Amino acid sequence: MDKPTPSFTDGMPNLSEAHFEVPTAERMAATAPPAHAPRFLILYGSLRERSFSRFLAYEAARLLEAMGGDVRIFHADGLPLPDDTTADHPKVQELRNLSIWSEGQVWVSPERHGNMTGVMKAQVDWLPLSEGSVRPTQGRTLAVMQVSGGSQSFNAVNSLRVLGRWMRMITIPNQSSVPMAYKEFDDAGRMKPGPLYDRVVDVCEELMKFTLLTRGRADYLVDRYSERKEREPARLQAVAADIGFAKR
Ligand SMILES: Cc1cc2nc3c(=O)[nH]c(=O)nc-3n(C[C@H](O)[C@H](O)[C@H](O)COP(=O)(O)O)c2cc1C
Repeated sequence: MDKPTPSFTDGMPNLSEAHFEVPTAERMAATAPPAHAPRFLILYGSLRERSFSRFLAYEAARLLEAMGGDVRIFHADGLPLPDDTTADHPKVQELRNLSIWSEGQVWVSPERHGNMTGVMKAQVDWLPLSEGSVRPTQGRTLAVMQVSGGSQSFNAVNSLRVLGRWMRMITIPNQSSVPMAYKEFDDAGRMKPGPLYDRVVDVCEELMKFTLLTRGRADYLVDRYSERKEREPARLQAVAADIGFAKR
């Protein structure tokens, strides 16, 4: 006698209520991509007057603009340390509004003591993961870059990746790390031609592609089963009952 085919849901605990709410291709296709130019916010982690991370941020801005993006750079001068004042501080409001406006971001940090700078981290620390239904970073694309005084290293970009994950961003695979940055920019602050510059072009191109593919779908992308379950158990149970899916 043929053995009964086991259901793929057999033995799955606590999945019943929302199982059929798992995002479908139809739900994704129903979201039309926006018509405006892709919006990018660039953050960099230095307050120095001649700052190579700022120069690199400007190179990324020029490239993204040349590729059709609408780009803003946030300057951290005057931004208080996290929690040193309230979030209605004008610099904090400026930063939060830019992040909400953005569809993609570039974070450029100097490497300092083998990590991103405090200036870089303080900016992200002022961005709440969510405030009511507003999620300033979630679902946005992110490219990470670093400048160093020493030989090439990936300490800062690795930390920025962890931070991007924490802020629920789509961090693209490519990245830029500029060693001995003082050698790579001319007096006017422009990056010299060469493989390190080409890499920055590659990163911006990849960021643009991922942003075009994912923007307008942040809500869809960050929608999580476990959070729906927490937020609206009654509605999800009703959906389950409606389709005859027994509660486990
Ligand atoms: C306190 C301090 C620590 C630093 N630590 C590192 C480091 O760990 N690795 C490195 O390659 N460069 C290090 N540097 C050099 C900076 O990364 C370099 O000066 C960089 O250009 C600073 O960024 P900015 O030009 O955007 O201000 C350090 C510099 C300072 C002042």
